[in-house]
Amino acid sequence: MIKDSLAKALNDQINAEYYSAYLYLTMSAYADRLGYKGIANWLGVQAKEELAHGTHIYHYLLERGAAPSFQDIKAPQVSYGSLQEIFEKVLAHERKVTELVNRIADLALNEKDHAAYHFIRWYVDEQVEEEADAEDLALKFSRIGNNPGQLYPLDAQLGMRRFTDPFPV
Ligand code: FEO
Repeated sequence: MIKDSLAKALNDQINAEYYSAYLYLTMSAYADRLGYKGIANWLGVQAKEELAHGTHIYHYLLERGAAPSFQDIKAPQVSYGSLQEIFEKVLAHERKVTELVNRIADLALNEKDHAAYHFIRWYVDEQVEEEADAEDLALKFSRIGNNPGQLYPLDAQLGMRRFTDPFPV
């Protein structure tokens, strides 16, 4: 049985992951409406990954005998000034998620819950990749700015991304 403090932190993380999906979908819609379908695709795949991250925690809580709880999901900002702004926000958001995940890892260690620590380690490792990808794209968009000649090749590249379920059953 998992301790209440840890179950609460994991439930909060389900909400954070689902909020991330909302956030990336609003960003995807913004890019789509500008005509950048590849960038919209990349952000849409990101949203699907976030849903998978949240749902994986939901299953874990059930496995540990705790009740998943469903909290209000905050409405994200829906209007952006530029693609560059979007990717600056992606990076800032992923850094925040890393802090949340690290706090859960700290809590699992403090509670001596090695199973929960092992579980959350996947998210710790995932955040290294999430932040690296976000940093790379934030840098690229800051260099490109609004130059369509350079945006279109990047759009084509980001259109190649495909969703792979990180937790296939
Ligand atoms: Fe599930 Fe982008 O953190």
